[in-house]
Amino acid sequence: MSAQLSQLLNIKYPIIQAPMFLVSNTAMVIEAMKGGIAGCIPALNYRTLPELKAAIHELKAAKVAGGSFGFNLIVNKSNIKYKEQLRVLCEEGCDFIITSLGSPEETIIQSHKVGIKVFCDVTDLKFAQKVEALGADAIIAVNNEAGGHRGDISPKTLIELLKKHCSIPVISAGGVGTKEDFDAMLGYGADGVSIGSPFIASTEAGVTDDYKHACVDYGAKDIVMTQRISGTPCTVINTPYVQKIGTKESWLESVLNKNKTLKKWVKMVRFSIGMKATEKAAKEATYKTVWVAGPSIEHTKEILPVKKVIQNLTT
Ligand SMILES: Cc1cc2nc3c(=O)[nH]c(=O)nc-3n(C[C@H](O)[C@H](O)[C@H](O)COP(=O)(O)O)c2cc1C
Repeated sequence: MSAQLSQLLNIKYPIIQAPMFLVSNTAMVIEAMKGGIAGCIPALNYRTLPELKAAIHELKAAKVAGGSFGFNLIVNKSNIKYKEQLRVLCEEGCDFIITSLGSPEETIIQSHKVGIKVFCDVTDLKFAQKVEALGADAIIAVNNEAGGHRGDISPKTLIELLKKHCSIPVISAGGVGTKEDFDAMLGYGADGVSIGSPFIASTEAGVTDDYKHACVDYGAKDIVMTQRISGTPCTVINTPYVQKIGTKESWLESVLNKNKTLKKWVKMVRFSIGMKATEKAAKEATYKTVWVAGPSIEHTKEILPVKKVIQNLTT
């Protein structure tokens, strides 16, 4: 099996274990590398820069041939740590950075100086062409089946559209829960895939057993979009708590959002409140569960080690 992503990152299978806020950790990425794929962690999973540095050192020490590791940076204003995180990644080194939610220009400039590849989350052609012009090494094509902040376009349409109009590799993100799904994405022309949700119920994931069991017990039909976490629509498991609080932004937020100046601030405040709510649900077993996941949990039938999840996706 050889798709462009394998050559780009020197990995056995063209798969990235996708960055997941509060879920991804070094244990998962180390197993990903051993399994012949790449692994990625959101830099925001580390509260402090020394913690981020320690994670990079751990991954460098554990790196094996056929595997590769990277970090995800939220590059818009909501991430006040962005510049410092970028500096640490460039100083300490990693194989690649995935940018999301903003312009990747600064990240591309700084990363390329030290040989780090930059892949950019996009959901449409316009933004894909923008990041290609800025010098991105690949596009992460986030489709309408992805977990988290998903796009609006189906996997097939998005891959075909981007392959037709862009010349850098296209990595498809969203909706891969089985080897058949993986093969289908490559069949549509993808140069690799980025897979998140199927790794939530892994032994190594840094979340509660309740969250992992929810990924086993619930399926594609239980995934809903909510604006209540970060303001940006996000996919979550439709637990009784989510049903109780609803999925729409509040009346006050919607009024404030109509004002251009206030909108920016509402977004920042909502983002920070949302991060805390998600963190609480991910780390504590309370009835207030806001668990982010995508429809590909449909195929999650038990809690398995990362190694086995990779085997199920590739053989
Ligand atoms: C629990 C969860 C958290 C996520 N957190 C992030 C994140 O912090 N940054 C990011 O760029 N994408 C994030 N994503 C999106 C993933 O990186 C990836 O695009 C998505 O999981 C692909 O869809 P899939 O879940 O169907 O595999 C998250 C997805 C999930 C399910």
